Amino acid sequence: MKVFRTVDAMQQHARSVARTGRTHALVPTMGALHDGHLALVREALDHADHVTVSIFVNPTQFAPDEDYESYPRTLDADREQLDALGVDAVFAPSVDEMYPHHADDTLAGPLAWVTVDRLNETLCGRYRDGHFRGVTTVVTKLFNACRPDVAVFGEKDAQQLVILRRMTDELLFDIDIVGVPIVRAPDGLARSSRNAYLSEDERAQATVLSDAVSAARARIEAGEQRAEAVVGAMQQALRSAPDARVQYAEVVDAHTLRPVDTLHPGQDVLAAVAVFFGDTRLIDNAFVTVPAA
Ligand code: PAJ
Repeated sequence: MKVFRTVDAMQQHARSVARTGRTHALVPTMGALHDGHLALVREALDHADHVTVSIFVNPTQFAPDEDYESYPRTLDADREQLDALGVDAVFAPSVDEMYPHHADDTLAGPLAWVTVDRLNETLCGRYRDGHFRGVTTVVTKLFNACRPDVAVFGEKDAQQLVILRRMTDELLFDIDIVGVPIVRAPDGLARSSRNAYLSEDERAQATVLSDAVSAARARIEAGEQRAEAVVGAMQQALRSAPDARVQYAEVVDAHTLRPVDTLHPGQDVLAAVAVFFGDTRLIDNAFVTVPAA
């Protein structure tokens, strides 16, 4: 497995992969790899002849009060896991490589950003100012550095996936976006690098997130068409964790990410929750197609 630390070396390698006629899949990550990430890697290995995994903790998607400094960094263990799976290349650049002007004080840092409007206003976007602008900007840079034919993302970050699909489509990136279902622990908790921050007690209570989105799915599939009732079922599930602070529990249209009042037969909706345990913020969701009446 090759490891590239610079954009130049990565681009040169990507060109050589293309020259030999091989298809190239990219799995963007921030490292601290777990089973969720590894499911994406397996999907990528199924989709392309050559797989690159990027590992970069992207400073521009963290707000000043978020966990950029303390985000787990486990590059050696990550490399071992990826090598064992048969990944071809790891792209692990520095901040200087990805943001060449970040320390430039003549014009105050990076000036070029990629933004997807509207879709960043609801759900997590309402509470994490600038987060999705950081994500769309860094993913564009990763696309330019790695030049993939296919890029794989998880449904765990549903709003991110919807935004990146729209970005790829509107900006004419010649890249297929593949989404992978959420990978969960046996008790239902979605795998996340941030689960490591939870105390034993919080970890036990955190199953309420998957209980909530399962309850939403069950209500919708049983024919409930009032979003308010679906949200009520999620809130009821979340209330059983005494230490949970609910940031949001919502049902939105799965394409526009706008809130819905009445669910229509055949409509794709997204039931999503964000919950704090102490300072740790967890999210979960379910994509559901509303059944015919
Ligand atoms: P990160 O949180 O490391 O996640 C990398 C990818 O793994 C994302 O596509 C995410 O949705 C997926 N993923 C994480 N946990 C998952 C789970 N339990 N099941 C399925 N997929 C899961 O998301 C990011 O990094 C960053 O925003 C990034 C796209 C790399 C841009 O910096």
